[in-house]
Amino acid sequence: MRDYGETRDGQTIQEYSLRNAAGMEVKFITFGGILTSIRVPDRQGRFANVALGFSKLADYEAEHPYFGAITGRYANRIGGGAFSLDGRDYQLFKNDGGNSLHGGAVGFDKRVWVASESNGAVELAYRSSDGEEGYPGNLDVSVRYSLDADNGLRIDYAAETDAPTVLNLTNHSYFNLMGEGEGTIYDHILTLNADAYTPTDANQIPTGEIAPVAGSPFDFRTAKTIGSGQRSAHPQIVAAQGYDHNFVLNRRGLGKGELGLAARAYEPRSGRVMEVWTTEPGVQFYAGNFLDATLIGASGRLYRQSDGFALETQHFPDSPNKPQFPTTVLRPGARKESTTVYRFSTD
Ligand code: BGC
Repeated sequence: MRDYGETRDGQTIQEYSLRNAAGMEVKFITFGGILTSIRVPDRQGRFANVALGFSKLADYEAEHPYFGAITGRYANRIGGGAFSLDGRDYQLFKNDGGNSLHGGAVGFDKRVWVASESNGAVELAYRSSDGEEGYPGNLDVSVRYSLDADNGLRIDYAAETDAPTVLNLTNHSYFNLMGEGEGTIYDHILTLNADAYTPTDANQIPTGEIAPVAGSPFDFRTAKTIGSGQRSAHPQIVAAQGYDHNFVLNRRGLGKGELGLAARAYEPRSGRVMEVWTTEPGVQFYAGNFLDATLIGASGRLYRQSDGFALETQHFPDSPNKPQFPTTVLRPGARKESTTVYRFSTD
């Protein structure tokens, strides 16, 4: 652990490094719980950072597309920035046109988390107070980062509330398995373990439909390049300027807390492979469509469209307004737990 910097309002931020015997190293900061670096070997054993990010705190404090961050209280969109729960209406801050995105004006990505170490893992804790960003209930959240011997980065999320609320937690890392700043991710070969996805309207809010991927550019059940569908004229791809959709993960035969394979990404030049395992029902596959050559990354290179992709394990967007989707309601006395593992290897 070391001091990483000071926020504009004078809070000291720490950086933690986790390293395993194989040499894999992950760094994160107590600001937003942001994963700032994930260093893994290629097939020749050469290490590179495969996560997009910045080199200093001020860049993370400024507006950016949630690089590496813990996203909440509600990851992704809530339509109209509004929902009702137990007969009461709640209005959230609208930071995405008419919607609320990734928690509102000051989401979990911009909060200072309290770190504690145990057994080589680090747990980050944050109390989101009643009414913060319009959400009801004092919510105690913890996010635990750990590394295993087999190059798996494990993220354990837990939350408890003192009043009924809704929540959806994820990590918003962007990956480029060639290495951060090394170009577009079009040649990455992706598999998604999903027979269906949730199509969205013109405002990127799910229509409520669970649509089969068969016969569409959303069919990643057999491995194919990201680039092959990213320029498709499918109306869903046109509307989101590329892939930016929630996939409904196949979880047949899996119990509630059991990890299931969500995705596998393979980059042929480096030989790097990343698998995503999760207990969550969905994953947002976002191909970095809105990276617009305005941000300079950690190694001093400009991030352009599709220079990274995100696989955000989650409950479905706008679930508070879609009773047919798996529930995101948390009530006092219950504990919400989920786990996601990003596992790296080579071909
Ligand atoms: C959303 C995108 C958004 C990105 C950065 C993703 O989770 O689905 O639409 O641009 O986050 O905010």
